[in-house]
Amino acid sequence: MMMGEYLAFAAVQSPEPETRDVATRWGSPTGFRTYSPQDVAQSDVLLRVQDLTKRFPVSLGFRKKAYVSAADGVSFEIKKGTTVGIVGESGCGKSTAARLVLGLIEPDSGTVAFEGVDVKTLSRGRRRELRRDMQMVFQDPYSALNPRMSVGESIAFPMRVHGTSRSEARERAALLLRQVGLHPNHASYYPHQMSGGQRQRVNIARALALQPRLVVADEAVSALDKSVQAQVLNLLTDLQEELGLTYMFISHDLNVVQYMSDRVVVMYLGQVVEECASEELYERPLHPYTRALLGSVGGLDPDQPPGPRLEGEIPSPIDPPSGCRFRTRCPEAMPVCAELRPALRQPREGHYVACHLFEEGPVSPSDSSATPATALAV
Ligand SMILES: Nc1ncnc2c1ncn2[C@@H]1O[C@H](COP(=O)(O)OP(=O)(O)OP(=O)(O)O)[C@@H](O)[C@H]1O
Ligand code: SF4
Ligand SMILES: [Mg+2]
Repeated sequence: MMMGEYLAFAAVQSPEPETRDVATRWGSPTGFRTYSPQDVAQSDVLLRVQDLTKRFPVSLGFRKKAYVSAADGVSFEIKKGTTVGIVGESGCGKSTAARLVLGLIEPDSGTVAFEGVDVKTLSRGRRRELRRDMQMVFQDPYSALNPRMSVGESIAFPMRVHGTSRSEARERAALLLRQVGLHPNHASYYPHQMSGGQRQRVNIARALALQPRLVVADEAVSALDKSVQAQVLNLLTDLQEELGLTYMFISHDLNVVQYMSDRVVVMYLGQVVEECASEELYERPLHPYTRALLGSVGGLDPDQPPGPRLEGEIPSPIDPPSGCRFRTRCPEAMPVCAELRPALRQPREGHYVACHLFEEGPVSPSDSSATPATALAV
C-alpha cells in the first residue's frame, strides 16, 4: 500500500451517529435490482463485488502510454463470518481487488456492495463510517507500523482519530494486546524491539481497534517463518470465532489459503478463473490453471497423482492474450481459446469455472463480461 493511501485509510474522521443508511440497491450489469431493508438485514452476504474492472495507466517511454489490466470483470461474494481466500501468482490482481474493496482506489466500472449497499451510493460521511467496518492487515509487519510510535500509540491511533479519549484508547489498546496474545506491557515497546510474529500481532490488534466487520489480510503471513505463520493463522481463526469476523484472505500460498478459507477465488491475470468451496477446490480442481498451481506446490493428498506443473511466464497485463488469458500456458488450449473469453460457468453446484473445457452448466449470474455459450455455437 502506498503512503498516501495509508494516510487516507487511517485518517478517517469521526463517525456520524449510529443510524446506518441502508441504501437498498446495488448495480448489476443487467440493471438495478432493488432490495428491501428486510432483504438486506436477512442476507448472509457481507460483501459482494460485481464485475470490477481496473486499468492502470503506465508510461512506455516518450509520449507512449499503455494500460495495465489489473482487474477485469472480477466478481465474488463473502458471507458473514466466513473466509474467502484469493489466490494466484504474483501480479494477478489480488491486491488490486483488495484496494478496490477497501475503496482505496476507484474501479473503472463495477460495484462493491457492503451489506447489500453499493458503496458508490453512499454519502461521503457514510463512506468514512464504512471504512471503520473494513480494516486491513498488511504483508510486511515492520513497514506497516510507524517506527517512531510505540506499539500502544500505534494501536490507539485509529481510535484517537475516531474521537476516542486518550485514556479509553489506552485501556482498549491494552485489552487488544491481550486479545492477540501479547502482554499489555508491550504497549511501551517500539516496532524494532519486537519479533516479526509479535509485530504482526500488533498489526492485527490495530486492525481490530475499530471493531471492523471485514478484515482484509493481504499476504498477512507471507513475511513470517513457517512456525510463526501457523501461530498467526491460528490467532486469526480464533479471533474470527470469538468476534464473528469476516475475512478476505489473500495469499499466493495455496496451502495457507486452504487452511484459512471456506471458499477460494482463483485469479489469473486480473480475472477470476475458478471459485468454489475450499475442499472442493483441492479435491476436484477444474481449471487447468488451478490444477497446474496445485501441481506446482505438490498435492496435499499423497494418494493423488501429481498434477501438471505450471510452465512459462505470465504474459504482460498490458497486452493480455485474446480469448482465454491462460491459453499461452495451458496444456489443453484449443483454437476456440484464442477466439472467445470463456464464461464463468457452474458445472457443479457451487463450483464456478471459466474454461471452454466446461461449457456445461449455467453461466454465473455475476459474469456479464464473458462470452455467452450461444456465441460458441455460431
Ligand atoms: N498503481 C499501479 N500502476 C500501474 N500498475 C499497477 C499499479 N498497481 C498494480 N499494478 C499492476 O497491476 C497488476 C496487478 O497487481 P497486484 O498488486 O494487484 O498483483 P498481486 O496479485 O497482488 O501481486 P503480488 O502477489 O505480487 O502481491 C500488476 O501487473 C501490477 O504491476
Ligand atoms: S479456456 Fe482453453 S486455454 Fe483457457 S484454460 Fe480452458 S482449455 Fe485452457
Ligand atoms: Mg499483492
